[in-house]
Amino acid sequence: MVTILVGGQWGDEGKGKIIDLLSERAGMVIRSQGGNNAGHTVVSHGQEFRFHLIPSGILYPSTTCVIGNGVVLDPRVLLEEMDHVQARGVSVDHLVISDRAHMIMPWHPILDQLEEGQRGDDRLGTTWRGIGPAYADKVRRIGFRVGDLQKPRFLQKKLEFVLGKVVNPLLQDLYRVAPLDRDQILATYAAYGERLDPFIQDIFPLIQGALNRRDNILLEGAQGSMLDLDFGTYPYVTSSSPSAGGALTGSGIPPSRVDTTIGVYKAFSTRVGYGPMPTELVDATGDRIREVGKEYGTTTGRARRVGWFDAVVARYTVALNGIGSIALTKLDVLDGVDPIRICAAYRRKGVLHDHPMSNISHLKHCEPVYEELSGWQASTRAARRAADLPDAARRYIARVAELSGAPVEVVSVGPGREETLWMKEPSLAGLAREAR
Ligand code: IMP
Ligand code: MG
Repeated sequence: MVTILVGGQWGDEGKGKIIDLLSERAGMVIRSQGGNNAGHTVVSHGQEFRFHLIPSGILYPSTTCVIGNGVVLDPRVLLEEMDHVQARGVSVDHLVISDRAHMIMPWHPILDQLEEGQRGDDRLGTTWRGIGPAYADKVRRIGFRVGDLQKPRFLQKKLEFVLGKVVNPLLQDLYRVAPLDRDQILATYAAYGERLDPFIQDIFPLIQGALNRRDNILLEGAQGSMLDLDFGTYPYVTSSSPSAGGALTGSGIPPSRVDTTIGVYKAFSTRVGYGPMPTELVDATGDRIREVGKEYGTTTGRARRVGWFDAVVARYTVALNGIGSIALTKLDVLDGVDPIRICAAYRRKGVLHDHPMSNISHLKHCEPVYEELSGWQASTRAARRAADLPDAARRYIARVAELSGAPVEVVSVGPGREETLWMKEPSLAGLAREAR
């Protein structure tokens, strides 16, 4: 059984926790796009883990955790993360890295930052992790793949060309900064190669084997569909495809093998970086939600922009990904917020729109049409079944589902594994049922 899990908003939906819940019975968890721009937080037995690259399933020793070909991987960050989880008693023996995954090279973060500087007021607000430049090099066919670490002579020759003919001229002639030293990079990457060697594989046979055995495979999305390179708010997007399609090209799983797509949505909206966000709140309610929800980036520490739940976005991303069930997270953050609003449509020049327009200057200037619902005063943190929730909270969840076009099957009311409500026997089927 193959399950795709995607973020339905702008990332930071709380995917880490849901993936962790589903990972226990997954034979394999695969990261298929993004890089260490992502930050997935998992709280397990009172310990908080933050993963940037390692699939969140790593906490379960019998789950094979795969970094797929669609990922751009910074070897330094990965090794640090491996050391960090090992120091806390978690084995990484079940980690596998695709030899086709591309690497972040030392110039990628530098160029990311320099390019953002050039954009001035039009900057995107990237994470400066080199994600965009690394994907750009992949597409230009001058990227470095993880498998190159196992071919030192090939690596050296390629570095000679890419650094000598493309990167250093750019750094020196366009940006007027110091060139990078080839031998130093070679030495650094040789050391990475030595340590990562046991984890690097062609994942094709591994994944085919899991498919043939009908193992539970979970595709762990990073970021969110509104940051999708094609379907997000371009150019205010990341450089990969966080939507369901990207999960497939990033892992080599054929579309016909997918059983379920789960969308994770936060009970309100957040966004890091620039770009349109029609329901953004720049007021005391927004500040309150940010503080209560601890809405600061896992990766960059930046304060996240906060807004009401945007059902126009949700309807779009449910449809775009074929989402069959919604996991709604951080409901507890809305405890005591009254009234609560949901954006049901956008209005622009008097015309109503039921999906986000592709033209982002239209999107920037549209006005959200809100429905107002009454809030609830009681804490939802201790709720474990739908019946434990205040009526107003149940009405809110029902309205989110109606407007989004998919059932809300899981609700999260806190960071811990146990702070989760299974609203009904979910179509998350085998995975979720067994995970409890
Ligand atoms: P990049 O992915 O670093 O190129 O950043 C592009 C945009 O995506 C910026 O607005 C980032 O803040 C946003 N972004 C990238 N990764 C994440 C994430 O994991 N969560 C939320 N926003 C992200
Ligand atoms: Mg995050």
